[in-house]
Amino acid sequence: MTSLNLDEAKAIPSVLDILTYENTSELKETKFGVRCSTSVQALGPQIFHAGQIIAVVVADSFEAASQAAESITATYSEEASSATFGAQGLEEVDATKQSQQHKHLPQAGDADGAIAHAEVAIDVEYSTPTQHHNPIELFTTTAVWTGDQLTIYEPSQFVYGLKNAVAERLAINPDNVRVVSNYVGGAFGSKGTMTPRTAMIALAAKRLNRPVKLVPTRAQGFTIATYRAETRHHIRLGARRDGRLVGYSHEGWEISSRPDPYVVAGVEDSAQLYAYGAIATKVNIVHADRNTPGYMRSPPVVPYIYALESAMDEMAVKLGMDPVEFRRVNDTTTSPVDGKPYSSRSLIQCYDLAADAFGWKGRNPTPSSMRDGDWLIGWGCATALYPTHVGPAAARVRLMHNGDVKVQTAAHEIGNGVYTILSQLAAERLGVNLSSVRVEVGDSRLPPAPVAGGSNTSASTCSAVLKTCDAIRARLFHAAVTANEGPHAGQSADDLTLKDGQVVGANGAAERLENIFGRMGVSSIEEYSEFVPDGLKPDAIAELYDGRLTMTGGPHGKKVMYASGAEFVEVRVHALTREIRVPRIVGAFAAGRLMNTRTVHSQLMGGMIWGISSALHEATDIDTQYARYTNDNLADYSVPVNADIKQVEVILVPEVDHDVNPAGVKGLGELANVGTAAAIANAVYHATGKRVRDLPIRIEKLLTA
Ligand code: MOS
Repeated sequence: MTSLNLDEAKAIPSVLDILTYENTSELKETKFGVRCSTSVQALGPQIFHAGQIIAVVVADSFEAASQAAESITATYSEEASSATFGAQGLEEVDATKQSQQHKHLPQAGDADGAIAHAEVAIDVEYSTPTQHHNPIELFTTTAVWTGDQLTIYEPSQFVYGLKNAVAERLAINPDNVRVVSNYVGGAFGSKGTMTPRTAMIALAAKRLNRPVKLVPTRAQGFTIATYRAETRHHIRLGARRDGRLVGYSHEGWEISSRPDPYVVAGVEDSAQLYAYGAIATKVNIVHADRNTPGYMRSPPVVPYIYALESAMDEMAVKLGMDPVEFRRVNDTTTSPVDGKPYSSRSLIQCYDLAADAFGWKGRNPTPSSMRDGDWLIGWGCATALYPTHVGPAAARVRLMHNGDVKVQTAAHEIGNGVYTILSQLAAERLGVNLSSVRVEVGDSRLPPAPVAGGSNTSASTCSAVLKTCDAIRARLFHAAVTANEGPHAGQSADDLTLKDGQVVGANGAAERLENIFGRMGVSSIEEYSEFVPDGLKPDAIAELYDGRLTMTGGPHGKKVMYASGAEFVEVRVHALTREIRVPRIVGAFAAGRLMNTRTVHSQLMGGMIWGISSALHEATDIDTQYARYTNDNLADYSVPVNADIKQVEVILVPEVDHDVNPAGVKGLGELANVGTAAAIANAVYHATGKRVRDLPIRIEKLLTA
């Protein structure tokens, strides 16, 4: 940027302040990867991408601020832009060389040799498009100062991360920052990290000494927040005639921004899925002139499992094998990468139950063989997979003498149902009514919980709340058995339980909480505890207080931990117009203990609907000359509406897993939209005989032979 003209903006009545790179030296830059997602934090003068924030106008009214912002002009020394794959000037780097998180990618044996000598082999390429978050709640921020105390109201998936990251940017003590986010209206990864706006609004509020509120437009959300970058895949599979795989090679390419090495490297998960024999994986970060991508529901597995599960279908076709049978033959209970056992795995049970419910055995495998009038019918299936994550968490729980309970932990309600499941857990553990439990989350003044990401919330926070409730039980039971009077005096604490507001013994004798509290001379018992999962360092909690987070799980523990599922879809493709419909989809899923079957059902149903969206609707269009997004609104960015979604059936497969975490929960918020796109692509092939390897599958891709 060579000049910025603010004259016209400043002349607009009620404009209070304009922040630009020339007057915001207080804003410190933070590094990519630590608490924040992007290193493009400054207001310029260097421009990394279209839509980068170059000025923030504050006015008495939203209208005045918008008008003033529109009237600011800037000049630039122009350079050619590299927008996406195929452009000149991209920089391609091996992910293991640039990403701290992905220094080692799965390798086992000699995959090239195994595939070269395989009885049957395929060599295929796939691609997935850019997708943008369009949460109904926009990317808002409100900043309020009271003296040197800053309070930020912002929809956030990680209040401790945001608090510490903003403090770092403003070079102030994090103890002086509070982040409040009691409910989040759509997040899915887009609100898990700090974006540039937050510290800017906090600084504006400080300069003006009054609260400042930002509500960016939907179009601005495409460039001031993160998104799912487009990917490309080269997959080779080798198999014996009997269907046993002998080799899997997967190379991926992912677009990132110029300065940041954001990468999801989904081969870390895809390589665990089947008994492949030899494995070779590689991932390339492709730096383009774009805003930095970030997490979007099931970030690694959505693109990589789409590619793998499409290739699995192609191999099944080439082998002349039923695709379900092909997966059964290659099922495994140990990691094909390093031989570690799975903590539990119910993939084939999922396939069997979903196939039955779907009526899979009525399928004629020949493409275009099933038809209803002008509609070609296609049936396809694919695997869903998601790594089980668990992180450190702390909780405070108070049990009152009258049975009221308060649960506090800085978890995040992003539609995951955390208020509901923590209430349920505390009520069950402390033997009180559900309606007596109050849960407080979404505030950095509460004990810390991890980011609501990686589907870890249930596992981590339930484990912490369970531990805290058990500490209360222990104190209560100790008081009951050491008393001089009462029905439990002299009994063993191990025989006691809590039920209906009473401490109940093995012999059925019961004593009301009030009595025990009365004898103890207290009106409540409060406990605070910290849960650190196996495999993490003890200082994981201290790091969490500091806004830094480590999680474990997936392929990284003593056992490999994954939730899994099988999805079956019917598509109907019009023989003449090639219009594509999805009349029904059936998914069966196993994810350890399910805290609440109703919230779980909704998560899985929503996931599959998002999968239908990925397969047929969603894609951000990019003007390759200027590296700009052209459909940055909900009219042109297609998502399914009710008329696109017919029958969605969810089957919950029972699974018990004692290894994953004390709660036995695998987490499944990000499970069901994995595999859906492949299942649909496979069904479209079955309907039409045409294999579309580039998402989304739209009518025009089925018009040519
Ligand atoms: Mo999720 S994309 O891990 O918030």
